[in-house]
Amino acid sequence: MDEIATGDEPCKIEVVPLVPPYIESLRPYEAGRTIESVRRQYGLAHVAKLASNENPLGASPKAIEALTRELGSLNLYPDGGLRLREVLAREFDVEVENVIAGSGSEGIMSNIIRTFLCDDDEVLTTEAAFTGFQVLARSRGVQYRTVPYDNWHYDLPALAAHINAHTKIVYLANPNNPTGTIFTKHHFDEFYKHVPERVLIILDEAYFEYAKDNPRYPDSMHYRYDNVITLRTFSKIYGLAGARIGYGFAHQELIRNLLKVKLPFEPSTPAEAAGIGALADKEFLHRSLELNARGLRTLTEGLRSLGLTVVPSEANFVMTVLPSAQDAARVFEELLAQGVIVRPLAAFGLPHCLRISTGTNEDIELCVNAWRRSYAASHGASHGG
Ligand SMILES: Cc1ncc(COP(=O)(O)O)c(C=O)c1O
Repeated sequence: MDEIATGDEPCKIEVVPLVPPYIESLRPYEAGRTIESVRRQYGLAHVAKLASNENPLGASPKAIEALTRELGSLNLYPDGGLRLREVLAREFDVEVENVIAGSGSEGIMSNIIRTFLCDDDEVLTTEAAFTGFQVLARSRGVQYRTVPYDNWHYDLPALAAHINAHTKIVYLANPNNPTGTIFTKHHFDEFYKHVPERVLIILDEAYFEYAKDNPRYPDSMHYRYDNVITLRTFSKIYGLAGARIGYGFAHQELIRNLLKVKLPFEPSTPAEAAGIGALADKEFLHRSLELNARGLRTLTEGLRSLGLTVVPSEANFVMTVLPSAQDAARVFEELLAQGVIVRPLAAFGLPHCLRISTGTNEDIELCVNAWRRSYAASHGASHGG
């Protein structure tokens, strides 16, 4: 309470903070270091950015072509994603009413939070979930509840057991960021039996394309339940992270309500065109998958040969588990000084872990060699994790 003097009598008024406490307590998103800033800081000729799970091959050429074609009509407002929705509906054999397009899958996530959450609702997910979702959910000011990992996998039975009368959204990323692990069809089937219809399941499949050929992977297009929203993105395998374009599938009632809340002119016209071009580029998809499979193998084997703990990944990155947060911070800096940018995971809630994206063969070699030098300098060959 503050006192404000109005005439003779001081009058007590309650000072309501301009910023709600659940916003005040958030930490702003910390973008990873840019190639240019690391190059300048350390005077390096080449820097490998292996921090943001981007496609090392660049963007799909067909996407760039399609995007470029749209530049002449930038004076016109976009169509709200309709053309892309139509293409996606044909490609995935659903109705256009089951599809939404937005400014990245995070853009759609933000719409989901705004559309479905009420003040008393709760969100349930794993510990150290994708930070994008953590921030969006926490910024809504609702209860955010988590369940620990089971050996770096979502613990679906524990999540099912934690659903209560207030649970409105369960968020599952498959493959998961930052661990790279998947849950299987069998686990999801079991889990789904325990989820009431009033609970919305977000199945975030940002890394779907990397995992889809694994026979144990539950492609959520086969789970078109009324309370499941699938989210996918063009930011990863299609190499369009900078364009901000993602999409989702759900029951038409969910999509109908999401469309009421979505910014009317997202996605942008060039982003939408790039998405349509990218979907047609099967050759680029294939090349990207091949490079990634090779990269995952080299990275995992290379780091394990140094005695590191590397969590087996089904995505385009791996997570390493270090003995302590201090170790992780030190290795991060030492790699940076050698021109390798990886992702510290303190913001996710895992300060003793680092995440490394797959890159070109050369960049992966640079990373493994840099790591070898870093450990040779500080630990000798005896490090385990
Ligand atoms: C699990 C997960 N979901 C969503 C996203 C964000 O995707 P977009 O660029 O489409 O917003 C990411 C990006 O890193 C991610 O890892």
